[in-house]
Amino acid sequence: MKALVLAGGFATRLRPLSCTRPKALFPVVNKPLLEWTFERLGKHNIKEVIMAVNHQTEIAVRAQRIPKHALRIMYSRDPPKKPLGTGGPIKKAEKLIGHGSSFLVLNGDIFADVDYTRLLEIHRKTKATATIALCKVDDPSRFGVAKLAKDNRILRFVEKPPPEKEPSKLINAGVYAFSPEIFEYIPENQTVSTEREIFPELVKEKKLYGYVHRDLWMDIGKPEEYLEINRILLSRTKEPQRHRTSLGSQIREPAAIGKATVIGKRSIIGPNTVLGHNITVGDNVRIQDSVIFDGTEIDDSAQIQNAIIGGHVKVGKRANIPKGCILGDYVKIRDDVSLAEGVTICPAKEISESVATARNICC
Ligand code: GDD
Ligand code: MG
Repeated sequence: MKALVLAGGFATRLRPLSCTRPKALFPVVNKPLLEWTFERLGKHNIKEVIMAVNHQTEIAVRAQRIPKHALRIMYSRDPPKKPLGTGGPIKKAEKLIGHGSSFLVLNGDIFADVDYTRLLEIHRKTKATATIALCKVDDPSRFGVAKLAKDNRILRFVEKPPPEKEPSKLINAGVYAFSPEIFEYIPENQTVSTEREIFPELVKEKKLYGYVHRDLWMDIGKPEEYLEINRILLSRTKEPQRHRTSLGSQIREPAAIGKATVIGKRSIIGPNTVLGHNITVGDNVRIQDSVIFDGTEIDDSAQIQNAIIGGHVKVGKRANIPKGCILGDYVKIRDDVSLAEGVTICPAKEISESVATARNICC
């Protein structure tokens, strides 16, 4: 059984962190999002994964050396300067996928605890051309939305409907089972949106079905959502964590601390905090409700709250990084700098004076 992972899109709302890594590689409790997906695919007996990428994401994904969980990983690359959308890459991978059996297609930028085995089983029973995993959410307007009949056939599918015009609260979770007939619907070498061009066609032909997924599902598109998925998974981890801490420091659970991360004296880390690998935290530091990527250094008496800090950042002594701040990789915050809530800083920028209002600081 095969799965194709769509990972060639461009994340905009998670800038500046997404300037330097695709969303599929964002760490979620110290594991790339894609590794969570590989793990789940392996558990559901999927043997081969085709990564639908662009040149940049291919390099980034390969460099990450994610454990393969017994999967064979292949790459199918969009042509240079021509992103194929969500449908084009499926057609492009036709030979790699083959016509032998149904297969999965997954959006690479979501966390979804979907029971793939069940999805494929249901898909086979209805003889649909496509079966979409659907999730119930309060605000469906930034997703694809489906209206479902009693027999789980999809009666309408609208991509990003205007607010209050949504046909239901059931959204496209970005996880599909397809039968090989799907290849007949997608033109070759073209940019195609499965959601806007193919699904409405399948609705007309009564070949589109839904499978309601009730477990954990999260699009990590917005910073709040990214922090939220980390929080949820932290609270699900049962094993007690072992950390190397110095005198008088405290780890307030739930928290995760990566390998070779060192925490100084009297510092308080957590709750709801993920420190990546190879991080150095000084003395008297306070970090809560935040995620900090690998290789960052946080100097004495700094305060970080509800923020996302990229990799290899330097946070100076007594610096204050409050709610909603996002620091790109290699940012340098000098001693005593205080940021206003919601400040975002582009990679490698150096900040030597306090910032009083929420804004994006770029080159
Ligand atoms: N290879 C390749 N080429 N992949 C692409 C391309 C492309 O040109 N464009 C997008 N992708 C990948 C993205 O990386 C992502 O993993 C997936 O396809 C979906 O694209 P997004 O750009 O993230 O779409 P969205 O988030 O606005 O909406 C989609 O996801 C929602 C669930 O999160 C749609 O499928 C919605 O219907 C759905 O509700
Ligand atoms: Mg998306």
